[in-house]
Amino acid sequence: MKGKAREIILEGPVGPEVSVGGKRFLYFGGTDYLSMAGREELRRGAIRALERFGVSSSAARSSSGTLSIHLELESKVAAFAGTGAAVNYSSGYLGMAVLLSGMLEPGDTVAVHRDAHASIKDAVRAWAADYFEFELDDLESLARKLEKGGGDGRVVVAGEGVSPLSGRVFPLPEVLSLLNGREHLVLIDDAHGFGVLGQNGLGTASHYGVESKSVISCATLSKAFGSFSGVVPATAALARKIRKKSVVYQCSSPPPAPICGAAIAAFDYVEAHPELFVRLAENSRMLRRTISALGLDVPDSPAPIVPLFDCGSLAPSLLSDRLFDRGILAPFTQYPGSPRGGMIRLAVTAGHTTGQIERLGAEIGKLL
Ligand SMILES: Cc1ncc(COP(=O)(O)O)c(C=O)c1O
Repeated sequence: MKGKAREIILEGPVGPEVSVGGKRFLYFGGTDYLSMAGREELRRGAIRALERFGVSSSAARSSSGTLSIHLELESKVAAFAGTGAAVNYSSGYLGMAVLLSGMLEPGDTVAVHRDAHASIKDAVRAWAADYFEFELDDLESLARKLEKGGGDGRVVVAGEGVSPLSGRVFPLPEVLSLLNGREHLVLIDDAHGFGVLGQNGLGTASHYGVESKSVISCATLSKAFGSFSGVVPATAALARKIRKKSVVYQCSSPPPAPICGAAIAAFDYVEAHPELFVRLAENSRMLRRTISALGLDVPDSPAPIVPLFDCGSLAPSLLSDRLFDRGILAPFTQYPGSPRGGMIRLAVTAGHTTGQIERLGAEIGKLL
């Protein structure tokens, strides 16, 4: 049965609880994985930057648009990721476009999985002269296409580290082993993995213990880091190459200074509170256990995302409505790429308490 996603207007900061329509709700939506978005420290960081720089640098990075706070943010990202450098640009959505426009060479063939995020597919369509799609659930489809073909150029695989809807983690080791023996790159949009998976939130490659120069990620600071804008953590040489070659980087204005101030405060906070990653991993496991104990089908993943496609007797839209009536916001979504009937995308953060997750489970249990 189809439902309709209700428009949700938040009337205050994002956190484990939010205000909607003048009421408080326990919140299991969004992407505030490290519970940063509502933090006082980020607001103060934004205000300090606003007072010093104003809002906009009024120019693109390739002309006079770089403020010293952009360099400061890039150093923070590089230090967090341990990469030596980083490139910051206006939005997470542009990440794959920055990578492809900055790194593709004549003769490259791009392989992108069919259900990749719109930003990845848009970027491939815009920047790849030669590309094909494959099924992530059937890597044989990639193997077959690699066998059949293409020229002698590099194979560049583009994909998302963590699926925003299902929480599935990109099968990086398997993809790398299929690429063995060919010149290749794997470009990962780690919007939902950076700050979330792996050693101290280093992301999808770290989750698998993969350290390879051929694996390069972009990420957003609008999710785990509670701020905004896109980043590519990179070696100094790669950062230089992207700045020199990517017109997406060169021809768009960088993020406003207050955004950078908030992001810098987020990295400072996270550095002082590594326990956040442990809490997030524990809460992700607890949410999974809680939902599967209700008899619902929960895909295995370390991500803080639990998709509810089929909720037994209740359609996902109805379950979401009933939870809303009980003070729990677990948004029903028809986000592009979700099943035709829509779904509930449950997300948990480092800031949720055990009691809050138990309450979600208890209320869903009663409703089913
Ligand atoms: C995989 C992926 N890439 C990029 C984005 C866009 O990031 P932002 O909203 O920070 O621009 C999203 C957002 O949902 C995403 O899921």
